[in-house]
Amino acid sequence: MADRGTLTRRGLLVGIGAAGGAGAMYAAMGALGLAPSEQDKTFTPPRQGDFTLKGRGAAKVVILGAGVAGLTVAYELGKAGYDCTLLEASDRIGGRNLTLRGGDRLTELNGAAQDARFGEGVYFNAGPGRIAPWMVTMDYCRELGVPIETFVNSNASAYVHTEGRTVRNKTARADMYGYVAELLAKATHHRALDRRLTGEDRERLLEFLRRFGDLGPKLTYEGSERRGFTRYPGMDGGTALTSPAGLHEVLAAGVGRAITNDFGYDQATPMFQPVGGMDAIVTRLVEAVGRDRVRTGARVTKITDQAGSVTVTWEGGELTADYCVTTLPPHILAKIPHNLGALVTAALRTPVPVAAGKIGLEYGRRWWELEDRIYGGVTETDLDITHIWYPSYGYHSERGLLVGYYNSGEPAELYGALTPEDRRRRALTQGKKIHGEKYRAELLSSVSIAWERQPHLQGGWVRWPAFDSSFTLLQRPSGRVYFAGDWLTHLVAWQAGAMESARSTVTQLHRRVTASA
Ligand code: PHE
Repeated sequence: MADRGTLTRRGLLVGIGAAGGAGAMYAAMGALGLAPSEQDKTFTPPRQGDFTLKGRGAAKVVILGAGVAGLTVAYELGKAGYDCTLLEASDRIGGRNLTLRGGDRLTELNGAAQDARFGEGVYFNAGPGRIAPWMVTMDYCRELGVPIETFVNSNASAYVHTEGRTVRNKTARADMYGYVAELLAKATHHRALDRRLTGEDRERLLEFLRRFGDLGPKLTYEGSERRGFTRYPGMDGGTALTSPAGLHEVLAAGVGRAITNDFGYDQATPMFQPVGGMDAIVTRLVEAVGRDRVRTGARVTKITDQAGSVTVTWEGGELTADYCVTTLPPHILAKIPHNLGALVTAALRTPVPVAAGKIGLEYGRRWWELEDRIYGGVTETDLDITHIWYPSYGYHSERGLLVGYYNSGEPAELYGALTPEDRRRRALTQGKKIHGEKYRAELLSSVSIAWERQPHLQGGWVRWPAFDSSFTLLQRPSGRVYFAGDWLTHLVAWQAGAMESARSTVTQLHRRVTASA
């Protein structure tokens, strides 16, 4: 018993619970570090009213890049009436948020143009494809009215293909968990862990391991219905998959990476996607910002920071504003003449661009649903295609589109260097190892993207060798020039990174403007 008179945590919570109900109690538990509270970051968007008492208008801001970061900056500043202009080098708005549909054309640096021939309702998210529930991207979807649906990131019926063999994800999990549980249970039972475990611990751990591995009475993994069936139960008990291979073979299959992906805090189920394509986020942001504020085909050639203004020059024009926010990829920005100093240039050269690629494979028949019973999710492989994504939309419709590879780094460079035809050929050869001849024979059309070959981007994302002083330097303005983008956050390669960075920039800029007004 705690001392009377001492305010114990439990006593406090009981009091709060009685006064404020369970919700208040959980919030208080979060504050005490007991129940996890996932969102305590606050962002206050600029408001029109922030200027009304100051007798001064909002500032004029030129934003470089009309991707998710640039658009979010313009959207948030727009709430307070800032006069924003976005300069976009490409003739398309959205940056890496790219959804391809039938009729779209994709061009690459020194490459052939590809025409998407997908049927009605079929789309290919060539850039971002999934959103975790804790990400700020979800808040923007809600605020902008972008409808979302579940993205199946993990599917027990999808496959794991390693060392030349294909098994269902559920089978790989059952066997790995089974054997791991058996080994640990036996070591526990034989008192090998007594230095760490009390007698009670031992019993509790064994109880857990029996469940975790579906172990037999002798703490042995003998296979499990969790592995799946060749014929599922119905009027009779069906036909369960036969017993697992031995421990040695199961370990040799090397399924570790494949079966732990959804353990990641950013990959855990459920994840989400906008209905109808990821670019709904861009569409709604542009509507909110105003299409007339975005100038496309404007490749920036010079940035000059002056005492009281910034001048941005592009091919065909020049614009002077109070502030500039540049969201260009650091390796692109580093090559544009500016007067921000050598430290800034050096910092911009620190993050290393990483190649990333995807191929969309369209089929006239959703054989993965009809024959494999795979509805969404990902097959993990140790091949150079890395993953196969099955669509999390349009179930049971006629056509459908798989992502036949999604890779980064070396394998992405390998595919990116091929012609679109050779990329497709290679992807089909790999996928055939898992799905058989139909994978090649039934293909209708395909489009592939190599982000390192996309003009004005030249990379899928960046890798920071370390989140060092270059990283923190660029999180602050250089004179009147601010930097933003996913590359300036710990959420590199997520739209949420672009949005968090945009919010940080908007907060800093607005504070400065309102303080100086
Ligand atoms: N956001 C991308 C994805 O989900 C890339 C990424 C993967 C980034 C894993 C971080 C971790 O595929």
